[in-house]
Amino acid sequence: MRLLVTAGPTREYFDTVRFISNPSSGKMGYAIAIEGVRRGHEVVLVSGPVELPEPTGVKVIHVVSAEGMLEVCESVFEDCDALVMTAAVCDYRPRRTLDHKLKKHNRVRPIQLQPTTDILARLGECKGERITIGFAMEDHDEREHAEAKLKRKKCNAIVLNGLANVAGDTAEVQIFRPDTGWGEPVVGSKTQVAAVIVDLAESLRAGRRAAG
Ligand code: CTP
Repeated sequence: MRLLVTAGPTREYFDTVRFISNPSSGKMGYAIAIEGVRRGHEVVLVSGPVELPEPTGVKVIHVVSAEGMLEVCESVFEDCDALVMTAAVCDYRPRRTLDHKLKKHNRVRPIQLQPTTDILARLGECKGERITIGFAMEDHDEREHAEAKLKRKKCNAIVLNGLANVAGDTAEVQIFRPDTGWGEPVVGSKTQVAAVIVDLAESLRAGRRAAG
């Protein structure tokens, strides 16, 4: 299978040195990419800025912003069988990026934001027979919000993620598939959870192929 994995945060700059971002470490996405290659899949990893070594055997494409990630994903997805979208893409970016460093003596002014493109939803629109697996970061009404995201973004499955998983080496997730419903919680190292998510991609892909 040719697998596209996204990982890490994006950075949305408002001047030449400062940006809006989030604390995603990229560990989950990198673990999925490593597991995919270990099983003989061809893996392209589109990564935001993280402090992780490039995994051997994975084609890594580094991006910075949500728009940069969108551009790369749109071109790579075309030749892929499945997408696992773990990236913590910023939902907003500054309306303007200054071409110089904002000086402190400048009068304080609000940073105006505008929404970024929803990459998973955009790729969901044109996915055809391809599999898409989304992640849902929720802190209340978790299952309800995750199921709504799956529908809105046209995913084949969604991985419910919690704030406690951010940046650590372990994770606890729950997976929802419309055909089988909610599975038991998956708890373990990110390597162990990654194996379950690659199993999921393989199983969805096999189901799709069997369906012709
Ligand atoms: N995602 C994306 N593009 C964005 C924002 C999110 O592709 N601009 C993807 C994430 O990679 C993840 C899924 O959409 O796979 C859900 O992301 P999440 O942050 O949980 O939800 P949002 O869609 O941002 O919605 P909300 O902030 O309202 O929870």
